[in-house]
Amino acid sequence: MSSLAQRAMQNPVLAAVYERAWRPVLGFSLMGFDPAHVRQEKQRTVEALGLAPGDRVLDVACGPGLFTRVFAEAVVPGGLAVGVDLSAPMLAQGARRGSDGGDGVPAYVRGSAHALPFADGAFDAVGCYAALYLIPDPFRALAEITRVLRPGGRLALMASIESPHRPVRAAQHLTLPRTGLRMFGADELTGWLREAGYRDVVRERHGVAQYVAATRG
Ligand SMILES: C[S@@+](CC[C@H](N)C(=O)[O-])C[C@H]1O[C@@H](n2cnc3c(N)ncnc32)[C@H](O)[C@@H]1O
Repeated sequence: MSSLAQRAMQNPVLAAVYERAWRPVLGFSLMGFDPAHVRQEKQRTVEALGLAPGDRVLDVACGPGLFTRVFAEAVVPGGLAVGVDLSAPMLAQGARRGSDGGDGVPAYVRGSAHALPFADGAFDAVGCYAALYLIPDPFRALAEITRVLRPGGRLALMASIESPHRPVRAAQHLTLPRTGLRMFGADELTGWLREAGYRDVVRERHGVAQYVAATRG
Protein backbone atom coordinates (compact mmCIF):
# COMPACT_ATOMS: atom_id res chain seq x y z
CA MET A 1 0.00 0.00 0.00
CA SER A 2 1.34 3.47 -0.81
CA SER A 3 2.11 5.90 2.01
CA LEU A 4 0.34 9.16 2.80
CA ALA A 5 3.25 11.08 1.25
CA GLN A 6 3.14 8.95 -1.91
CA ARG A 7 -0.62 9.41 -2.26
CA ALA A 8 -0.30 13.18 -1.80
CA MET A 9 2.07 13.36 -4.78
CA GLN A 10 -0.59 11.77 -7.01
CA ASN A 11 -3.14 14.43 -6.10
CA PRO A 12 -3.87 16.85 -9.00
CA VAL A 13 -4.61 19.72 -6.61
CA LEU A 14 -1.26 19.35 -4.88
CA ALA A 15 0.46 19.01 -8.27
CA ALA A 16 -1.17 22.28 -9.38
CA VAL A 17 0.07 24.27 -6.37
CA TYR A 18 3.31 22.35 -5.79
CA GLU A 19 5.78 24.66 -7.51
CA ARG A 20 4.27 28.00 -6.49
CA ALA A 21 3.23 27.22 -2.91
CA TRP A 22 4.04 23.76 -1.53
CA ARG A 23 7.72 23.55 -2.50
CA PRO A 24 8.66 27.11 -1.42
CA VAL A 25 7.03 26.63 2.00
CA LEU A 26 8.35 23.08 2.43
CA GLY A 27 11.80 24.10 1.18
CA PHE A 28 11.97 27.11 3.48
CA SER A 29 11.14 25.03 6.55
CA LEU A 30 13.26 22.01 5.59
CA MET A 31 16.26 24.20 4.80
CA GLY A 32 16.34 25.86 8.18
CA PHE A 33 14.49 29.07 7.17
CA ASP A 34 17.40 30.36 5.11
CA PRO A 35 15.99 32.54 2.28
CA ALA A 36 19.40 33.07 0.63
CA HIS A 37 19.92 29.33 0.34
CA VAL A 38 16.40 28.77 -1.03
CA ARG A 39 17.03 31.44 -3.70
CA GLN A 40 20.33 29.85 -4.75
CA GLU A 41 19.21 26.22 -4.64
CA LYS A 42 18.69 25.68 -8.38
CA GLN A 43 21.83 27.48 -9.51
CA ARG A 44 23.88 25.60 -6.93
CA THR A 45 22.48 22.33 -8.25
CA VAL A 46 23.56 23.20 -11.79
CA GLU A 47 27.04 23.89 -10.39
CA ALA A 48 27.08 20.69 -8.30
CA LEU A 49 26.22 18.69 -11.41
CA GLY A 50 28.87 20.56 -13.43
CA LEU A 51 26.36 20.95 -16.28
CA ALA A 52 27.78 22.12 -19.60
CA PRO A 53 26.44 22.55 -23.15
CA GLY A 54 25.74 19.20 -24.81
CA ASP A 55 25.31 17.21 -21.55
CA ARG A 56 22.56 14.63 -21.06
CA VAL A 57 21.05 15.13 -17.61
CA LEU A 58 18.33 13.22 -15.75
CA ASP A 59 16.12 14.69 -13.01
CA VAL A 60 14.79 11.76 -10.94
CA ALA A 61 11.41 12.33 -9.22
CA CYS A 62 11.23 15.65 -11.05
CA GLY A 63 7.72 16.63 -9.87
CA PRO A 64 6.45 19.42 -12.14
CA GLY A 65 9.95 19.96 -13.54
CA LEU A 66 11.15 22.97 -11.55
CA PHE A 67 14.75 21.71 -11.67
CA THR A 68 14.43 19.94 -15.04
CA ARG A 69 13.73 23.27 -16.77
CA VAL A 70 16.82 24.86 -15.23
CA PHE A 71 18.90 21.83 -16.26
CA ALA A 72 17.55 22.07 -19.85
CA GLU A 73 18.73 25.68 -20.11
CA ALA A 74 22.15 24.80 -18.67
CA VAL A 75 22.88 22.18 -21.36
CA VAL A 76 22.04 24.37 -24.39
CA PRO A 77 23.12 23.96 -27.15
CA GLY A 78 22.85 20.34 -28.06
CA GLY A 79 22.13 18.84 -24.63
CA LEU A 80 19.12 16.94 -23.30
CA ALA A 81 17.34 17.22 -19.95
CA VAL A 82 14.89 14.44 -19.01
CA GLY A 83 12.59 14.46 -16.00
CA VAL A 84 11.20 11.15 -14.70
CA ASP A 85 8.45 10.85 -12.10
CA LEU A 86 5.78 8.40 -10.97
CA SER A 87 3.01 10.99 -10.73
CA ALA A 88 1.02 11.73 -13.89
CA PRO A 89 -0.48 14.95 -12.40
CA MET A 90 3.02 16.26 -11.59
CA LEU A 91 4.26 15.46 -15.10
CA ALA A 92 1.16 17.06 -16.66
CA GLN A 93 2.07 20.29 -14.86
CA GLY A 94 5.60 20.10 -16.24
CA ALA A 95 4.39 19.32 -19.76
CA ARG A 96 2.20 22.46 -19.76
CA ARG A 97 5.38 24.52 -19.96
CA GLY A 98 6.87 22.56 -22.86
CA SER A 99 8.13 19.00 -23.07
CA ASP A 100 9.52 18.27 -26.54
CA GLY A 101 13.14 17.75 -25.42
CA GLY A 102 14.30 20.46 -27.85
CA ASP A 103 17.15 22.86 -27.08
CA GLY A 104 16.40 24.44 -23.71
CA VAL A 105 13.18 22.42 -23.23
CA PRO A 106 12.97 19.26 -21.08
CA ALA A 107 11.44 15.90 -21.99
CA TYR A 108 9.32 14.06 -19.41
CA VAL A 109 8.90 10.33 -18.88
CA ARG A 110 6.58 8.54 -16.48
CA GLY A 111 8.44 5.86 -14.57
CA SER A 112 9.64 4.65 -11.20
CA ALA A 113 12.97 5.48 -9.61
CA HIS A 114 13.00 1.79 -8.60
CA ALA A 115 13.37 0.73 -12.24
CA LEU A 116 14.51 3.67 -14.36
CA PRO A 117 13.50 3.23 -18.01
CA PHE A 118 16.93 4.16 -19.39
CA ALA A 119 20.03 2.34 -20.62
CA ASP A 120 23.17 1.85 -18.52
CA GLY A 121 25.39 4.96 -18.55
CA ALA A 122 22.84 6.99 -20.54
CA PHE A 123 23.43 10.25 -18.62
CA ASP A 124 26.36 12.56 -17.89
CA ALA A 125 24.66 13.85 -14.73
CA VAL A 126 21.74 12.87 -12.49
CA GLY A 127 19.92 15.01 -9.93
CA CYS A 128 17.38 13.80 -7.38
CA TYR A 129 15.91 16.50 -5.18
CA ALA A 130 13.43 16.37 -2.29
CA ALA A 131 12.36 12.83 -3.15
CA LEU A 132 14.61 10.08 -1.75
CA TYR A 133 12.96 10.45 1.67
CA LEU A 134 9.56 9.44 0.29
CA ILE A 135 10.62 6.79 -2.24
CA PRO A 136 9.82 3.41 -0.61
CA ASP A 137 13.25 1.87 -1.31
CA PRO A 138 15.69 4.78 -1.63
CA PHE A 139 18.74 2.52 -1.93
CA ARG A 140 17.24 0.66 -4.85
CA ALA A 141 16.63 4.09 -6.42
CA LEU A 142 20.27 5.02 -5.78
CA ALA A 143 21.41 1.78 -7.41
CA GLU A 144 19.28 2.61 -10.43
CA ILE A 145 20.63 6.18 -10.54
CA THR A 146 24.15 4.75 -10.45
CA ARG A 147 23.34 2.33 -13.28
CA VAL A 148 22.10 5.08 -15.64
CA LEU A 149 24.94 7.49 -14.75
CA ARG A 150 28.07 7.05 -16.86
CA PRO A 151 31.39 6.43 -15.06
CA GLY A 152 32.84 9.86 -14.25
CA GLY A 153 29.35 11.41 -14.32
CA ARG A 154 28.08 13.73 -11.61
CA LEU A 155 25.35 13.11 -9.04
CA ALA A 156 23.55 15.69 -6.88
CA LEU A 157 20.97 14.81 -4.23
CA MET A 158 18.87 16.68 -1.74
CA ALA A 159 17.38 14.54 1.01
CA SER A 160 16.51 14.63 4.69
CA ILE A 161 19.06 14.21 7.47
CA GLU A 162 18.30 13.36 11.07
CA SER A 163 18.79 15.89 13.82
CA PRO A 164 22.10 15.84 15.71
CA HIS A 165 20.07 16.27 18.92
CA ARG A 166 19.03 12.94 20.44
CA PRO A 167 15.46 13.81 21.67
CA VAL A 168 14.60 15.51 18.36
CA ARG A 169 16.06 12.56 16.45
CA ALA A 170 13.97 10.10 18.50
CA ALA A 171 10.80 12.12 17.79
CA GLN A 172 11.64 12.22 14.06
CA HIS A 173 12.08 8.46 13.88
CA LEU A 174 8.88 7.88 15.87
CA THR A 175 6.55 10.13 13.89
CA LEU A 176 7.78 10.48 10.29
CA PRO A 177 7.65 6.82 9.17
CA ARG A 178 3.87 6.88 9.81
CA THR A 179 3.54 9.39 6.96
CA GLY A 180 5.92 7.52 4.63
CA LEU A 181 8.77 10.00 5.15
CA ARG A 182 12.24 8.87 6.15
CA MET A 183 15.00 10.70 8.01
CA PHE A 184 18.39 9.51 6.77
CA GLY A 185 21.09 8.85 9.33
CA ALA A 186 23.98 11.33 9.38
CA ASP A 187 26.25 9.24 7.12
CA GLU A 188 23.74 6.86 5.59
CA LEU A 189 23.67 8.37 2.09
CA THR A 190 27.29 9.51 1.88
CA GLY A 191 28.40 6.10 3.24
CA TRP A 192 26.31 4.26 0.64
CA LEU A 193 27.80 6.35 -2.16
CA ARG A 194 31.40 5.74 -1.03
CA GLU A 195 30.68 1.99 -0.76
CA ALA A 196 29.25 2.08 -4.27
CA GLY A 197 32.53 3.53 -5.57
CA TYR A 198 31.67 7.23 -5.80
CA ARG A 199 34.52 9.69 -5.24
CA ASP A 200 34.65 13.38 -4.24
CA VAL A 201 31.60 12.83 -2.02
CA VAL A 202 30.67 16.13 -0.36
CA ARG A 203 27.76 17.08 1.86
CA GLU A 204 26.31 20.37 2.98
CA ARG A 205 23.69 20.54 5.68
CA HIS A 206 20.86 23.12 5.77
CA GLY A 207 18.31 22.58 8.53
CA VAL A 208 16.98 19.03 8.17
CA ALA A 209 18.06 18.88 4.52
CA GLN A 210 21.37 17.59 3.19
CA TYR A 211 22.86 18.37 -0.21
CA VAL A 212 25.16 15.64 -1.44
CA ALA A 213 27.29 15.74 -4.59
CA ALA A 214 29.63 13.07 -5.91
CA THR A 215 31.34 11.69 -9.00
CA ARG A 216 30.67 8.14 -10.13
CA GLY A 217 33.90 6.11 -10.03
C1 LIG B 1 8.46 16.40 -3.07
S1 LIG B 1 8.41 16.03 -4.80
C2 LIG B 1 10.00 16.60 -5.39
C3 LIG B 1 9.91 17.25 -6.74
C4 LIG B 1 11.17 18.00 -7.17
N1 LIG B 1 12.27 17.09 -7.38
C5 LIG B 1 11.56 19.07 -6.17
O1 LIG B 1 12.76 19.19 -5.83
O2 LIG B 1 10.69 19.83 -5.75
C6 LIG B 1 8.66 14.28 -4.76
C7 LIG B 1 8.38 13.64 -6.10
O3 LIG B 1 8.82 12.27 -6.03
C8 LIG B 1 7.95 11.53 -6.86
N2 LIG B 1 8.11 10.11 -6.55
C9 LIG B 1 7.79 9.47 -5.40
N3 LIG B 1 8.10 8.17 -5.48
C10 LIG B 1 8.64 7.97 -6.71
C11 LIG B 1 9.17 6.85 -7.38
N4 LIG B 1 9.20 5.64 -6.81
N5 LIG B 1 9.66 7.01 -8.64
C12 LIG B 1 9.63 8.23 -9.23
N6 LIG B 1 9.13 9.34 -8.63
C13 LIG B 1 8.64 9.22 -7.40
C14 LIG B 1 6.59 12.10 -6.55
O4 LIG B 1 5.63 11.78 -7.52
C15 LIG B 1 6.91 13.60 -6.48
O5 LIG B 1 6.71 14.23 -7.71
